[in-house]
Amino acid sequence: ALDTHQITSQLEKIGLSQPPTFSGVQLSPEYNPVDIYRAYIIEQIQKISGAEPAIINNALAWTQDLKHGDLVLPVPALRLKGKKPDELAIEIADKFDCPIVEKPTADKTFVRFFFKAGPLATLTLNYVLEQKSQYGFNPLLGVEDPSKPKDSKRKRMVVEYSSPNIAKEFHTGHLRSTIIGGFLVKLYSAAGWETISMNYLGDWGKQYGMLSQGFEKYGSEAELERDPIKHLNEVYVKINQDNAEEQKEAKKLAERKDELEKVKNPPKPMKPKKGKENDAVPEVKWTDEQEKQLQDATAELEKVQEELVAKPSIDEKARQFFKRMSEGDKDALKYWQKFRDLSIEAYKHMYARLSIAFDDYSGESTVKQEDMDKAAQVLHEKGVSEDSKGAVIVDLAKHGAPKLGKTLVKKRDGTSLYLTRDVAGNLERFEKYNFDRCIYVVASQQDVHMAQFFKILQLMGSPYSDAVAKCEHISFGMVKDPKGQTMSTRKGTVVSLADSLDSAKEFMHDVMRKNDDKYKQVEDPEATADTLAISSIMVQDYAGKMINGYNFDMERMTSFEGDTGPYLQYSHARVCSMARKANVSREAMENADFTLITAKEGVELVRALAQWPDVFLNTYKTREPITILTYLFRMTHMLSSCYDAKDANNKNAKTMSVMYADSEEKKAALMALYEAARQVLGNGMRLLGLKPVERM
Ligand code: ARG
Repeated sequence: ALDTHQITSQLEKIGLSQPPTFSGVQLSPEYNPVDIYRAYIIEQIQKISGAEPAIINNALAWTQDLKHGDLVLPVPALRLKGKKPDELAIEIADKFDCPIVEKPTADKTFVRFFFKAGPLATLTLNYVLEQKSQYGFNPLLGVEDPSKPKDSKRKRMVVEYSSPNIAKEFHTGHLRSTIIGGFLVKLYSAAGWETISMNYLGDWGKQYGMLSQGFEKYGSEAELERDPIKHLNEVYVKINQDNAEEQKEAKKLAERKDELEKVKNPPKPMKPKKGKENDAVPEVKWTDEQEKQLQDATAELEKVQEELVAKPSIDEKARQFFKRMSEGDKDALKYWQKFRDLSIEAYKHMYARLSIAFDDYSGESTVKQEDMDKAAQVLHEKGVSEDSKGAVIVDLAKHGAPKLGKTLVKKRDGTSLYLTRDVAGNLERFEKYNFDRCIYVVASQQDVHMAQFFKILQLMGSPYSDAVAKCEHISFGMVKDPKGQTMSTRKGTVVSLADSLDSAKEFMHDVMRKNDDKYKQVEDPEATADTLAISSIMVQDYAGKMINGYNFDMERMTSFEGDTGPYLQYSHARVCSMARKANVSREAMENADFTLITAKEGVELVRALAQWPDVFLNTYKTREPITILTYLFRMTHMLSSCYDAKDANNKNAKTMSVMYADSEEKKAALMALYEAARQVLGNGMRLLGLKPVERM
């Protein structure tokens, strides 16, 4: 932040004093240069129209497209009686008088404000150069009382995301949750919240009984140590195949049993109904041959029944195994603990590639039995749950949520379910962290599950309902293959995360190798290729609203053309390369005369840079990464037009070229502008979880 003294000295440079303040209007001139303009504009409009400052502030909007002004006032939003909005717009435009804003234009019921180029460049570039990696962010948003930031506590946010299932594929749904959750954590941190990254592993349930059996049969300690995720997945797939085989066999046996029973009890001859004599089953005569068949059938049936009883199925064994795990049986838990520990180690490596680290590896297994018992008791006492054939269910239709239907909360053998664990886990999480907010980043396929478990908690009353009142589900759409088909493990079209990261990396590495000169200068080409690959994947993920799905298209996302990750990285690296060649000192940039930036491309870029704090604020409201991405592409396109900007009088001169600047002063001012653009681009990229590269 700039302190009061610094702001004053910035303003003095352009002939102004401290901006006015208004009670009930929260402006942050220490973080946002546009808030200085807001202050002066509010002052003027209040004087001219008599409207309330707070109302004026709410009405003043930033624009997506700078041709509509730097700020715009829709006059009807002032809610003034008597005057016609279009007439008032003209009046405001006429009487408005502020030394840093051009004469406003009245456009029907809108008043458009354009900031004067010289002062805006001076203010904005000084802000960026001063605040560097903090420019744009506002850490007061996350404090309880922003009017006393020093004595006020920061609010606490728990974000649960990624949450893969051990032994099952880490699929693109988990990747998306990881990317979006990582972004939300960065967003809230930049807004001053205290954040906790939580990974809620799918590490409990009957499938671990399955996996343990599978490991006894197919597992290898060495393979497990080498690549736990892959090995456990292989084992899991094999034991599931066995299980499927076995179930087919069991089905055959059961069918045979039915047949045999029919032989034993042949259909009895019936007396024909009146008038339907022809439909009657003719009387069966009991032959010797039939007698023999009956005896054989009886013997075979006995054997089949014995077989069915003697050999419990894989599925049944898994159920029993999980029951023993639930009861804390050390033997049953020994594999499971190892699977979990090794898997977490492997996940950590993958997350590190995505610049993500978790503060808490919780999981379904960490939800305590006693808390589930307590929750079950509350559900019962409050009449929320009911017994159903020995199991316990909640019929949400009976509790005002017909769309959520019935759901099982306890199985007949007493073991818990995914839903039960979420219900009890929510309060545990609240008691552990005492959070102000908690976000669950979970795919839209689980919208019903999330709604069910939130609803159940509401029905349970305090303290459960208090905790869930602070929680929110952020949903996202499905990732499909390049042709728009659902990816499924069964069809073998699921792209495993490690594989897609690796192939994107290889692709990027090949592209880099094509320019030998540049390639030789990249310090660690492997790492750079990896960074570029991750940028491709992330930007593709952010390229639409979260709730929309998208097609995982390697070709498109790794392209350098269009709005892609590599394009953003290229824009960043290009400024870095220019800075290396120009070699202007930081001091020269800081002391430059920014009013020398007069070409229209340069002025536009400055205006875009001034918007960044408002873009951040808007993103804090929408929580959509696309808000940032759209801005970054718009800004980098402006940046790239600056490189080729032509002098109005001399079409051959690149008027914004640092190398050909006609004076040292001009060179320093231009370089400061490019450096500021690089800084803003870098800040935006880091907020999105991308690592800006300096060479590529
Ligand atoms: N492990 C689950 C899955 O992969 C996602 C967990 C989501 N979080 C939750 N609290 N239910 O489907």
